[in-house]
Formats: sequence, C-alpha cells, structure tokens
Amino acid sequence: MSETKRGRILMTGAAGGVGTFLRSGLAGLGWQVRGFDLVVPDDPGRTEWLVGDVGDAAALDAAMRDVDVVIHLAGIPVEDRFERILKSNIDGTYQVFDAALRAGVPRILTASSNHAVGYYERADFRDAPIGVDVRPRPDTYYGVSKVFVEAIGSFYADRHGLQVASVRIGSCFAEPLNRRMLDTWLSPADATRLFDALATAPELGYEIVYGISANKTAWWDLEPARRLGYEPQDDSDVFAEKIAAAEDQAPDPEDPEYRYLGGRFTTRVPPQD
Ligand SMILES: NC(=O)c1ccc[n+]([C@@H]2O[C@H](COP(=O)([O-])OP(=O)(O)OC[C@H]3O[C@@H](n4cnc5c(N)ncnc54)[C@H](O)[C@@H]3O)[C@@H](O)[C@H]2O)c1
Repeated sequence: MSETKRGRILMTGAAGGVGTFLRSGLAGLGWQVRGFDLVVPDDPGRTEWLVGDVGDAAALDAAMRDVDVVIHLAGIPVEDRFERILKSNIDGTYQVFDAALRAGVPRILTASSNHAVGYYERADFRDAPIGVDVRPRPDTYYGVSKVFVEAIGSFYADRHGLQVASVRIGSCFAEPLNRRMLDTWLSPADATRLFDALATAPELGYEIVYGISANKTAWWDLEPARRLGYEPQDDSDVFAEKIAAAEDQAPDPEDPEYRYLGGRFTTRVPPQD
C-alpha cells in the first residue's frame, strides 16, 4: 500500500451490494467510511452510519461534514419506471452534487454504468477496445440516468472546479454469474483498488473510466483507469470453466446478451406497477 493519506469518505448507497464490498475494502486501506442509505445493513462493521434519502438536502448537508471524498452509489440499479428513476437517480444525484458543492467537498466519485453506453455492439470493437470517449448510447431509462450522472459530473467539474470521476461499472459481484460477466466482471478487491486509486489520484479534473477487472476477454478500454493509478489484479478467466460447464450452448452472437455491451438490458421494459 502506498503512503497516500486516507481521510473520510461519505458513501451513499453504502448498504447495497457494491457499497458492502467497498465499505470493508476501503476501511481496510485506512479510510474512515461514513455510510448514508435508506436502510442500515445487518453488519455496518466499523462504518459510521446515517439513515437518509439522497433526495433530502438537509440530511445530505449533515452527512457532508468533514468529508474528503464522496462515493455516490445510491439509486435504483436496474430498469424501472421513468418517474422512479427521475426521483432516485437523477434528482438524487443532483442533490448529492449540490450538497458536496455547498460543503466544499473537493472530490466526487460516481457510479455510472455500462448501461450508459449499452447499445454499442461487440462486433464493432473486434480490433480495438471501446473507449470512454464514445457518445452515450443508453439502453434503458436506467442507462439514461447514468448519462445524467456523467453529465452533471462534467458540468460541476467545469463550472465549479469539483474533481469528479464517473465509473462505468461492469458487473461487480463476488464472482461472474454468467458468460457475459466473464467480460464485464469487476471483482470486489479490484473495485476497492479502483475507487481507492480514484480517491487518491493527485490530479483529477473530470474523468470517465470503465470499472472492470483485468479480464482476458474484456473489450472495454482500461487505460484511462490505469493512468489514474488503477492496477487490477483479478481475471474472470479463473471462473471460465465453471461457467462453460453451466452454460453448455455456444453463445449466439445475435442474442442481445452477447451482441450489445448492455446485454439483456437492451430488451428490458419498465415494470407496470
Ligand atoms: N452491481 C453492479 O454490478 C453495478 C453495475 C453498474 C452500475 N452499478 C451502480 O452502482 C451503484 C450500486 O449498485 P448496487 O448493485 O450496489 O445496488 P444496490 O441496489 O445493491 O444498492 C443501492 C443502495 O442504494 C440505496 N438507495 C436507493 N435509493 C436511495 C435513496 N433515495 N437514498 C439513499 N439510499 C438509496 C439502497 O437502499 C441500496 O442500499 C448503483 O448506482 C448502480 O447503478 C452497479
């Protein structure tokens, strides 16, 4: 571990899947983590905990005190009706940025997603990986909200000088769950390495990075993250045999799961309830 000083992180959505990995990983590197979520997890561990809604500006003002870095994960992580996405992911993200600005927090790392660019086709990136500078091609209302997350980060960086990174997270789980995730997997340990690198990078203006491990089959460009100090150490290849045994059919390149960067999200419709 480098000698870089670690301070206090405010992590929204800290009770969720990614938050649970990052809370313990970043605390292990010396960060003091303050969790902010609608719920308290079963085991908050060493995390200081605040229950609140990212739509609540006063609750965010209290949460931002003495914070060095915000990691904004809170929101709906799948397709949903636009009104719900609007409240949780779009207005909620605006509230987090504005509260950070009011409090003078210098750096925000946000969870964008591969679904901000989900309509890109794998067949078009055989010779070179897909870069972070492609135009947005969201695959859902959820993906649209992630384009907003990237856009407000860029705006607050340019207008207010905030240091911002948007992480287009692939699939952050303990292990890849299917064949697509062999390409898109972000191991919990690499997620910690990536967010720690972004939190400590000496120079940060506005950056978009892909958040995946060093997977042999990956087709997303990791160089922008590596330039900021990310050194992934995991590779989904160790799970390839297990997944091949579970999915014995060869993948159909026309199946949206394999055709598009966003996989099956390109066919999702919002629930009607
Ligand atoms: N898990 C992945 O592989 C993946 C991939 C791409 C992007 N992401 C993004 O990473 C983030 C975390 O994803 P996750 O898989 O951990 O999701 P998750 O649903 O497990 O966690 C989200 C957390 O946010 C909290 N939350 C929701 N609305 C809130 C609100 N209004 N105020 C406060 N807290 C609220 C929830 O209670 C939950 O604990 C999300 O923004 C998601 O879109 C995740």
